[in-house]
Amino acid sequence: MNKLTSLNFMDLDDFTREEILLILETTRELKLEAKRGFFHPYLKHKALGCIFDQPSTRTRISFELAIQQLGGYVTYLKPGEIHLGKKESIYDTAKVLSRFFDAIMIRWNSYDEMKELADNATVPVINGMTEKNHPCQALADIYTMMERFDDIRNKKVVFFGDRTQPAHSLGVICSKLGLDFVHCSPKKYAILPAYTAIFNRNNKISGGTYLHIDDIDKACAGAHVIYTDVWWWIGQENEEEERKQLFAPYQVTADILAKCDNNVIFEHCLPAMRGVEVTDDVMDGPHSVIYDQAENRMHTEKALMVLLMT
Ligand code: CP
Repeated sequence: MNKLTSLNFMDLDDFTREEILLILETTRELKLEAKRGFFHPYLKHKALGCIFDQPSTRTRISFELAIQQLGGYVTYLKPGEIHLGKKESIYDTAKVLSRFFDAIMIRWNSYDEMKELADNATVPVINGMTEKNHPCQALADIYTMMERFDDIRNKKVVFFGDRTQPAHSLGVICSKLGLDFVHCSPKKYAILPAYTAIFNRNNKISGGTYLHIDDIDKACAGAHVIYTDVWWWIGQENEEEERKQLFAPYQVTADILAKCDNNVIFEHCLPAMRGVEVTDDVMDGPHSVIYDQAENRMHTEKALMVLLMT
């Protein structure tokens, strides 16, 4: 039986603080087992379908290895390789995939289409990133913070740059768990009210805070985590020049990290554009935990699947 109240994993806001902590504690146990070379077949003979309408390195590899290490099978459907929404209705695809798979992981630009798939599937649907959010990334982001800090509550997490899907999901998980989340960007690119309303509602319960600020020095003061993401993505290429100019002061550099808490860590969901939103010395420097984050995608997704699929 699914040990979480939601059948699907589409948005972290669908889960309680306790459920998110259960995923993170399960991650700790599974990662420890894996590091000891022990792979219990929690998902023996379970099948995962992975559907993508965009390229991926981490999401594809982490889900494929996660299910295989837990004794299951995976089918990868790359962009353009499934009828979904084109030659076949989302409804019919959901019904058919539910006969083959025990869960479906989907990276799909349209959140609404992903939701339609989930509403009509009879197996869990996991959001591998949509135009709105990237909840699997946020699990790895916060788990990586937990590995570095004894207690993550009231840690100050500052997201520099564009209001990307990882920014939205990071804000949601911080608000669920009681962290202080700051978005530092030009005002034009502040996180939209639809999301800040969610942060503020959750913070009333968790004790966390949310602030948008364009002042870099104020954002950095006392910051425990500095996070950034690319300044433009697929479909925004025509805005490249404007974005480069506007975001230039928000590039994460060694000078930025020097303004933060001494033990600050640097996170990036990757892929990064080195020399654009972040400098090489930060990516490769002593504060960087970017490759831990990438690896932790696999461990957190194992935990998620075990809780959703058993
Ligand atoms: N962070 C992330 O989702 O990476 P991929 O696009 O490589 O999956």
